[in-house]
Amino acid sequence: DIGQTVTLSGWVNSARDHGGVIFIDLRDREGLTQVVFRPEENAELAAKSHELRDEDVVQVIGTVAARLAGTENSKLATGDIEIVATTLKVLNKADVLPFQLDRELSNEDLRMKYRYLDLRRERMTKNIRTRHRITNAARNYLDGNGFVEVETPILSNPTPEGARDFLVPARLSPSKFFALPQAPQQYKQLLMVAGLERYFQIARCFRDEDLRADRQPEFTQIDIEASFITQNDIITLVEGLLASMFKAAQGVDVPLPFPRMTYQDAMDRYGSDKPDTRYGLEITDMKDVFENSGFKIFKGTIDSGGVVRAINAKGFAGITTGQMIRLNELAIEAGMKVKQLAFIKVERDANGVLEYKSPLWKFFSEEEKEALIAKLGIVENDLVFFYAGTRDEACNILGRVRIEIATMLKLNEGSTALNFLWVVDFPLLAYSPEDQAWVAVHHPFTRPKTEDIPLMEAGDYANVRAEAYDVVLNGYELGGGSIRIHEGDLQSKMFTVLGVTEEEKAHKFGHILDAFRFGAPPHGGLALGLDRIAMLASGEDSIREVIAFPKNNKAC
Ligand code: AMO
Repeated sequence: DIGQTVTLSGWVNSARDHGGVIFIDLRDREGLTQVVFRPEENAELAAKSHELRDEDVVQVIGTVAARLAGTENSKLATGDIEIVATTLKVLNKADVLPFQLDRELSNEDLRMKYRYLDLRRERMTKNIRTRHRITNAARNYLDGNGFVEVETPILSNPTPEGARDFLVPARLSPSKFFALPQAPQQYKQLLMVAGLERYFQIARCFRDEDLRADRQPEFTQIDIEASFITQNDIITLVEGLLASMFKAAQGVDVPLPFPRMTYQDAMDRYGSDKPDTRYGLEITDMKDVFENSGFKIFKGTIDSGGVVRAINAKGFAGITTGQMIRLNELAIEAGMKVKQLAFIKVERDANGVLEYKSPLWKFFSEEEKEALIAKLGIVENDLVFFYAGTRDEACNILGRVRIEIATMLKLNEGSTALNFLWVVDFPLLAYSPEDQAWVAVHHPFTRPKTEDIPLMEAGDYANVRAEAYDVVLNGYELGGGSIRIHEGDLQSKMFTVLGVTEEEKAHKFGHILDAFRFGAPPHGGLALGLDRIAMLASGEDSIREVIAFPKNNKAC
């Protein structure tokens, strides 16, 4: 564009006076451009430019010129050129900002109070635009696959998704409350009964639940439902969808298909239904080593139907006391009944002899020690943790400890890996000791696996698997879905198992049970968390960084 006359409108990012020549970096939606005001060419204009302060809003007309040789700025996209100004209009002055835009700010309250200023930062602008590209890619991909975008009500009837509803009073019927949708689940199923066959929606969802870095009370789903499909159809569709979204965000080609893992396997090996597979640190079952052990705690646990499991934190023998305390605190939070995880630290003593420092080592036979070393591949500088207890405890505790060890060892630092993965074959039901009832692991509309329906009929609820699947990326649940129940009698049976009375069935779910009587097609779907996808695609670790106006950490 050298030699062209251009008009730039934007903000004064910074202004510098170099011996009377004024340089400003003008910031607009595309980034920074250097503008120069030379007193020898236009003294009046240069004097006016001298008054400019950071964040003033200006319009500059000028000529594009090559920068003098040696003054180019390779860090800037426009670093080879500058605008030699001929006109300057100050459109608005700015007060001194409450914080500097070019510095990271840890004061969350200040960032949220002046979010419009926070959003002026390059990082935030970039995130918002990445999110736009992702949403756009999703729309195009789904449209290209014959999916029709349909809006469903925000003022709606409650749909159980496991969280509390937000309620809205209505003036015209003073005794009635609308619920904000936790998800458009029932509406999308009704659209299948309506014959729409392929639905999607960029859907706002509302859940009154505790906040986390990847959770907000209001968030956005890419919600999908289709008829006459199998689990494999949905999986293939969603893999293509996610690949298109990451291509749009980062320009990368995500390898397809994603690996699949059963829920059992994920829990046993990683202690989580959303395992981060970027690093190993797998949990190992030690039954074959200790089932005949003279060490009573381990043998007794195995004899009574429990498990003994271990994690080898390779190279972590140098763990600090503080880190050890932290790991034990987390294990206790995750349900550990004793005060400390059993451990073995493998270090060389002053004489160069390999030492197995552990409160347990002396209880193991030579044979057990050998088997243990071989099974866990234990070498110098390793740190092995054990847990003996119920299977669920072992999964929860070691799963939590595994993640923390990876954080302490910085195993993911600098990683750009995108470890997508499907977790399949979830249990349909889980027993909730607080409610003293069976609850749906996904939601009550999820279909049991056909081969497990007899187990459901026999009342063996713990072993019924669902036709349900979650897609996971780097330890985050990106989305979840299922094939649905489409028969009224099976849906009614499911409600009964969940303790829904006949009266409640008619009152709360009559519409969907009715709909299933009038020719409901077999159907299924999934919902992706758009905020989480945008977060991971932008390299952020909180969804607040990809939401223009999020709730703060107190959900206000
Ligand atoms: P689910 O409850 O698993 O499924 O939600 C789907 C995805 O939505 C995202 N998500 C959230 N994101 C941010 N903040 C939250 N509070 C939040 N809660 C959920 C997650 C999650 O994987 N109706 C079913 C889907 C279906 O069966 O088709 C549903 O809502 O990324």
